[in-house]
Amino acid sequence: MSLTVRDVDLRELMDDPDCDEQRLAATLRRFGTINRLISGWGGVYERRLRPHLARLGRPARVLDLGCGGGDVLARLAGLARSDGLDVEWVGVDPDPRALAVAGKRATSGVRFRCADSSILVDEGERFDAVISNHVLHHLDADELRSFTADSLALATGPVMHGDIERGRLAQTLYAVGITPFAPGTFLRTDGLRSIRRSYRRDELRAALGPEWAVEHPASFRLLAVGNGRG
Ligand SMILES: C[S@@+](CC[C@H](N)C(=O)[O-])C[C@H]1O[C@@H](n2cnc3c(N)ncnc32)[C@H](O)[C@@H]1O
Repeated sequence: MSLTVRDVDLRELMDDPDCDEQRLAATLRRFGTINRLISGWGGVYERRLRPHLARLGRPARVLDLGCGGGDVLARLAGLARSDGLDVEWVGVDPDPRALAVAGKRATSGVRFRCADSSILVDEGERFDAVISNHVLHHLDADELRSFTADSLALATGPVMHGDIERGRLAQTLYAVGITPFAPGTFLRTDGLRSIRRSYRRDELRAALGPEWAVEHPASFRLLAVGNGRG
């Protein structure tokens, strides 16, 4: 199947409000392993987030928008704790099914809340950094505009949205590599659909506009970086 253009009409199984709840929960739990292997946040933490938080020289707040099962936030919190950084980590997602899984990853300094980005903007919330993982490719053009605008409004520091880069090699490697992790989950179908829905670097740049830089933080990954306006 051609990957020349984004397949924006393709819907992921987990985006169906009536999807099988057990498989969804298993998928969100297993993202803990998959995100660790493919999402590149360890490197982004070392190169960008840790230096920024350390420079602040005071307790910081970091927001994960669309946190899903909460594994990326929990992992970053663990890394920062090991580095002796004092950070409040907040994960939000409007989907209560995701929050049920994320809530199990809450620890001291890591909390999760059922809300979307616009609610936090209306409340006047501010964070020293805002991140997201695998959210951008789920959104249509209007949602992308409002989600990224909200993220800039909520941040007083860097905003970093990590996502997959569409490509044939990513698709082939994922199709093979996901096999041991896929049983009982949506990981195979949704991962392959995600790749077909995701952007190439120049497409994401064009979709986001001049306020954003789009980098390659790791193989098959894109990182959209902006400066908060908050
Ligand atoms: C594929 S999931 C990614 C979950 C998680 N970040 C991960 O990497 O596993 C995308 C999530 O974005 C959430 N989402 C969509 N629009 C949002 C918004 N405006 N504010 C916060 N979350 C949003 C959805 O509810 C969904 O759980």
